[in-house]
Amino acid sequence: MEKTPKLKTHRDVYEPAEDSYLLAENIDAKPGETVLDVGTGSGIQAIVAAKTAKSVLAVDINPKAVKLATSNAELNGVKNVEFRVSDLFENAGGRFDLIIFNPPYVPSYETDLLGKAWAGGKDGREVIDRFLCEAGEHLTDEGRFLLLVSSLNKIDELGHEFKKHGFGFEAVAEKKLFFERPYVVKGRRFI
Ligand SMILES: C[S@@+](CC[C@H](N)C(=O)[O-])C[C@H]1O[C@@H](n2cnc3c(N)ncnc32)[C@H](O)[C@@H]1O
Repeated sequence: MEKTPKLKTHRDVYEPAEDSYLLAENIDAKPGETVLDVGTGSGIQAIVAAKTAKSVLAVDINPKAVKLATSNAELNGVKNVEFRVSDLFENAGGRFDLIIFNPPYVPSYETDLLGKAWAGGKDGREVIDRFLCEAGEHLTDEGRFLLLVSSLNKIDELGHEFKKHGFGFEAVAEKKLFFERPYVVKGRRFI
């Protein structure tokens, strides 16, 4: 990443980790583009995207994340981002050139706010699969998304899931960690 944003943290909000930085390093927002950051957490992806994009809408199901991300955007002098509480795309009307999502992807079940930020249920895929069902309706014709997934998520099956929803699956970055391998995957419609 060119320059890591300054980020305050909160005990109920996901603190940026290796997965966050891997995704942030691979954001390819271009001048004039509109971006949606789903599951913004601290706001890291939204703040990085806002440096080049025309505008960013950033959403999170956790109201405390929306509050923290709003104050982190101010801390970084970023003015072209709007933050909203939303369950995935529920309050994110419109279509976007780029959608960014670092989802809860660990195969585990948690009930508290912070746990739900990283625990993705069966195969770590419950929120990812919902995202794939709905993403197409929120992308412009040439739009793309950048999704963080992991070797914990049955990657081969995930490729089929992309295909089922009409998206190509291109791994643009990966990192070997101690117990998993996170990937940044670019999805775009088949032409
Ligand atoms: C792994 S954290 C990523 C946070 C931040 N984007 C980053 O890269 O560090 C996942 C985020 O998604 C949010 N989240 C989980 N389920 C969601 C849903 N259904 N709709 C919107 N946000 C959700 C969590 O609250 C959490 O902030």
